[in-house]
Amino acid sequence: MGKAIIGGTGVYKAGNIVTKKVVDTMYGQVELDILDIDGEDIVFLARHGKDHSVPPHLINYRANMMALKRAGVEYIYSTVAVGSCNENYKPGDIVVIEDFLDFTKSRPLTFFEGGNEPVRHVDMSHPYCKNLIDRFYDMAKREGLVIGGSGVYVCTEGPRFETAQEIQMFKRLGGDVVGMTNVPEVVLAKELGICYSAIGIVSNWCTGMAGEITLHDIQGTIEANRERLTQVFMEVFREGLNKDNCNCSNSLMEL
Ligand code: HPA
Repeated sequence: MGKAIIGGTGVYKAGNIVTKKVVDTMYGQVELDILDIDGEDIVFLARHGKDHSVPPHLINYRANMMALKRAGVEYIYSTVAVGSCNENYKPGDIVVIEDFLDFTKSRPLTFFEGGNEPVRHVDMSHPYCKNLIDRFYDMAKREGLVIGGSGVYVCTEGPRFETAQEIQMFKRLGGDVVGMTNVPEVVLAKELGICYSAIGIVSNWCTGMAGEITLHDIQGTIEANRERLTQVFMEVFREGLNKDNCNCSNSLMEL
């Protein structure tokens, strides 16, 4: 059971659930769906819960990622709903996340809290697994899924949306898309040595870019992409993966 999909806003399933697995961690209990894809178990986790009941700042990121690791997961594709502050990426586009800017404020952001444990720092030269990204591009092409491009994800604390001035600032800093959940998720994956890639579904223009943000737009654009996107993940999983072309397992440094 080495592979998982984390579904973000609007992505609450990815195939037929065969069984459920409850995993206990020191951070809390997590329920995982286990799917059968051609005889292989694939784990599915809805980041906000199936009924979208957990807001971004209260997601138990450490429990989620530790539970996946305990379940034997070594490769994760996740979906993230994002607003776009890049004129080239419009609602409905798929954007491969290549890097992030962290504007979160109040979340536990590491498994390593010192005390009796050694102090550790994790390398963020390639926060997102290069191998998973390359494989995603290849498979999307083969499956006819059009990719808008790649971009820098700005993670805000939420749950409020941004002000127009904040969006202008993020643009100047090099941000392309904005969301509320990818930090610390990607950081914790790296701390656990898990290969992790996040694929953005642009659900709306960011504040001040064009009109008002509506919930209707957000749900519609995600639904239009959900199935084909998860299909591409499954096809990559089906072909098999290895850790030969990335450094994800060796990113922790002890000083
Ligand atoms: N801002 C922050 N998070 C988001 C947005 C946005 O515009 N759209 C979807 N998630």
